[in-house]
Amino acid sequence: LKSQPTIFIIFGGTGDLNARKLAPALYNLYLEHWLPEQFAIVGTGRTKLTDDDFRERLHKDIDQFSRSGKAKAEQWDSFAPHVHYYPADVQNADTYQIFGEHIKELESEWQQPANVIYYLAVAPNFFPIIAENLAKAGLTADAERTRIVIEKPIGHDLESAKELNALLGRIFQEKQIYRIDHYLGKETVQNIMAFRFANAIMEPLWNRNYIEHVQISVTEQLGVGDRLGYYDGSGALRDMIQNHLLQLLCIVAMEPPVSFTAEEVRARKVDVLRAMRRFTPESVRDMAVRGQYGPGWIEGQQVPGYRQEAEQQGVNPQSNTETFAAVKFFVDNWRWQGVPFYLRTGKRLHRTASVITIQFKEVPHSIFPSSMMDTQRQNRLIISIQPEMSIRLQVQAKRPGVDMVLNAVDMVFDYKGTYVAQAPEAYETLLLDVLLGDQTLFMRGDQVEEAWDLVMPILTSWQNRVSQNFPNYSADSWGPEVAEALIAKDGFHWFTLPLHDK
Ligand code: BG6
Repeated sequence: LKSQPTIFIIFGGTGDLNARKLAPALYNLYLEHWLPEQFAIVGTGRTKLTDDDFRERLHKDIDQFSRSGKAKAEQWDSFAPHVHYYPADVQNADTYQIFGEHIKELESEWQQPANVIYYLAVAPNFFPIIAENLAKAGLTADAERTRIVIEKPIGHDLESAKELNALLGRIFQEKQIYRIDHYLGKETVQNIMAFRFANAIMEPLWNRNYIEHVQISVTEQLGVGDRLGYYDGSGALRDMIQNHLLQLLCIVAMEPPVSFTAEEVRARKVDVLRAMRRFTPESVRDMAVRGQYGPGWIEGQQVPGYRQEAEQQGVNPQSNTETFAAVKFFVDNWRWQGVPFYLRTGKRLHRTASVITIQFKEVPHSIFPSSMMDTQRQNRLIISIQPEMSIRLQVQAKRPGVDMVLNAVDMVFDYKGTYVAQAPEAYETLLLDVLLGDQTLFMRGDQVEEAWDLVMPILTSWQNRVSQNFPNYSADSWGPEVAEALIAKDGFHWFTLPLHDK
């Protein structure tokens, strides 16, 4: 497939996603010879630009955002002719004829049919109109050669997600639809599958008999920034838990797939979501908490609270949108019965870190008296996704000395220490997979709907209980008190990876 001619049509070509992620990712794939010889990147947007204007823009974006640094003149010069631009109003059905003509032109130049990838890097309210207009213009009929890529949010709730899936389903076959969750493209996230399913020693321990509880924590130091317009209608539960964190949970909790293929892997992930315990209004109170950041200081800089930012950006200054959410989930199946999965995420917290902690049970009988033991007695497997990329197994060991004293030490697999090669950006992996037609790391429609179904009672219950004592956590903290209480009442505490490198 790699060698088949390919045209990427990027709707939202002048937007932020293309500038920061897509263009640099495509450029790096080009440099590393992953793109076919005959390929074209066609940007489109409302701004009137020529091909050269657009190329110049992308050149600057790539210089600024590519992990490989500034583009070298010679390499850029060979890449640039592959880039084109068409100013177009996506709402106008006629403009789609132009894409059709352009595709035909390229195909006749290349003397063979091309695969066409439509990347919708636009606000989600444009997804339906673009999909429909592509279909009307006859640009989606070839299911073997055309693909559509969409970004989250995929729906605002269960109903709208179903509507969107149904609409896409009328136009495309599921094998043509690539729903991006960029967490799935992260190197360390993909490695969880390798770690679990390519090592014989893990599987026997990976269940309720040995695992006491699981934590999935994605904390961010940054605030919402200039995205209030979007974020205020979303909140942390929709923005992060419904997708990224639940996808991580699925990878940790899934049964071993029969093979490493898109259908097998995705089916096992849906099994997890289906097995997850549904919430009632009462259990929401017990198992889900939220927070919103107030003003404070981060690394010597004074930062405004969410409501101040809302006011500055013309959004409700009394907003009750949560910027922090923590939820306790259960997976009701044989493997996980009774094992809590605690998920938390929030903005403006003390540190940016995505970490999965699997805490094992204590030994059934300790031969060492308490006086010899560390306070941390249980084994932990700590999968650090970012910024540190590592897998740590915490075990008990004897401290050097004449007396017998034990303490917890880390057995570490650390990417930086093990590999010289730089990890690719998630978008490089994912764009290459779209090119190759591999959907393993993309969300299937039913997965998205199950995840919405799971979180809907929380959203509804929170919507009905608007009066919160917001803001309830300050910048540079680990979130609101209620999040500590959520886990402390079960006798645990949130785990924070010490800073190993900075
Ligand atoms: C996005 C969310 O999907 O993921 C953002 O909309 C969030 O709010 C971002 O900041 C986090 O991604 P990463 O890759 O920086 O951890």
